[in-house]
Amino acid sequence: MPDKPETDRDRRVFALYEQLLEIEQRLIPTGLHVFGRASSAGEQIDLLKMIASFDRPEFGLRALPQEVVDDAVRTFVRKGSNEAIRLLETRGLPTGLTTEDVRAVFALLESVREKLQTNTEIDSLVRALRGEFIEPGPGADIIQNPDVLPTGRNTHAINPYSVPSAAAFARSEVVASSLLERYRSEHGRFPEAMALVLWGLDNIKTQGEGVAQALWLLGVRPVRDALNRTTDVEVIALPDLGRPRIDVVMTVSGIFRDLFSPTVQLLDKAVRLVAQLDEPWEMNYVRKHVREQIEHEACTPDEAAVRVFSNAPGNYGTNVNFMVLDSQWEREETLGDLFVTRKCFAYGRDSRGRAIEGREARLAMDRALSRVEATYQNIDTFEIGLTDVDHYFEYLGGVSKAVEKRARSRPAIYLSDTLSREVKIRSLEETVRLETRSKTLNPKWYEGMLKHGFRGVAEIENHVSNTFGWSATADAVDDWIYAEVAHTFLFDESMLERLRDLNPHSAHALVQRLLEANGRGYWDADAATLEKLREISRSLEDQLEGVA
Ligand code: BEZ
Ligand code: MG
Repeated sequence: MPDKPETDRDRRVFALYEQLLEIEQRLIPTGLHVFGRASSAGEQIDLLKMIASFDRPEFGLRALPQEVVDDAVRTFVRKGSNEAIRLLETRGLPTGLTTEDVRAVFALLESVREKLQTNTEIDSLVRALRGEFIEPGPGADIIQNPDVLPTGRNTHAINPYSVPSAAAFARSEVVASSLLERYRSEHGRFPEAMALVLWGLDNIKTQGEGVAQALWLLGVRPVRDALNRTTDVEVIALPDLGRPRIDVVMTVSGIFRDLFSPTVQLLDKAVRLVAQLDEPWEMNYVRKHVREQIEHEACTPDEAAVRVFSNAPGNYGTNVNFMVLDSQWEREETLGDLFVTRKCFAYGRDSRGRAIEGREARLAMDRALSRVEATYQNIDTFEIGLTDVDHYFEYLGGVSKAVEKRARSRPAIYLSDTLSREVKIRSLEETVRLETRSKTLNPKWYEGMLKHGFRGVAEIENHVSNTFGWSATADAVDDWIYAEVAHTFLFDESMLERLRDLNPHSAHALVQRLLEANGRGYWDADAATLEKLREISRSLEDQLEGVA
């Protein structure tokens, strides 16, 4: 490919080439984990390649470059480290890497491989059921932290006072600035306010990257006390920050609220600190919004500065996913309203130091969301993405729909991919396309699922329904996606036969979901296509009722 595309045609071919590369290089799970079973040789190669592709400064380890990682890891798995090192030496070591660097990478791969080959999950489960001690281990995905192996241990959380770690804070600067640059490139200025979704497990896995991103947007850094606990923040001066402080509305999950209580306090403290800074409004949107609200609504500074919201104490989830998947809604705005009803409980501490622990603050949340121009969530693992579970659309979709009504405008919706070699910010629409191409419509993915029979068909249907969740909450799904789902799984006769043999219930649910997508105006399908779908639906119903 040319380095510097010259003509318009070259530019378009180059953009296409980059997109194809992105899809090709995306790591996807190619099957479900079977409890108690160690990973196969093929799965091991895929995982080890990814593990070897990341620099690990914490262990002084360097990544193997893309050009050599495939051959090197295959040779390693078949013939061992010495052969793999010899291969690299014969071909000429990658630039900047010494034999010692390469040896250290294979030493890590050796230990990971050993742990991948054993599996004590069933044994541990039985011991847990007997009330015996289960050795604890960290929670993350294997690529982020190979120390999660062996599996079958008691996943322990981390000390909330250690969040965000220094590494997470450093990494997050790039993410926050890329996010703001992306918005600015599309809108000509920075967003005044953003809504962020923070989850508990994600912040355990990344040692608080989501938290650190929120702090960067506000323009503050974490400060540790004499006991090395992160209990405070300090202001990053505007000349150093080089941009305005962004107003950040945070919706934290119930799990986050429970696990990260000191962090909830830290985030609330950060907002209140920034709101009090004597800075020009155009450089400090938190102050601007808080002052405006006090002036126009005669509310107290404490009320105007609430930005950390979660469920009522003891409650979890938004229920937006249930409402969507059970088709229990007429108007989309109901989904956003439900999100606010579930999540409008404020957490933090007021200016007199009194704890606010889940006080209902619907008006405050309505106001805060009414200024939001962009919504965002960090995705930190290749294992679970936008269409694998219903939680992304219930949270990020739910908050975006709530913003749309309150701000009278749909926000820009972004996700980051902090797993790739370089940080990548994508719009929701781009992420849905990428997920669809690399998973739902990718034969490597769906054939992997179909090996699991009944459950595999249910997974395919789940992916389509979760994709539909992005239509319902954010109108972020292109027509071609539904059309291709119909062609791949229903209009291909042999595929339809396989699905109906393995799991006619899920096959029927899939057809119904496509018809619902059309019925609700998310998919503009022609009459012949719809008739075909209805016919398939009828024949599946007959099968389920034992008529056929
Ligand atoms: C969490 O870790 O906070 C979380 C997990 C699953 C769904 C929603 C939130
Ligand atoms: Mg559409």
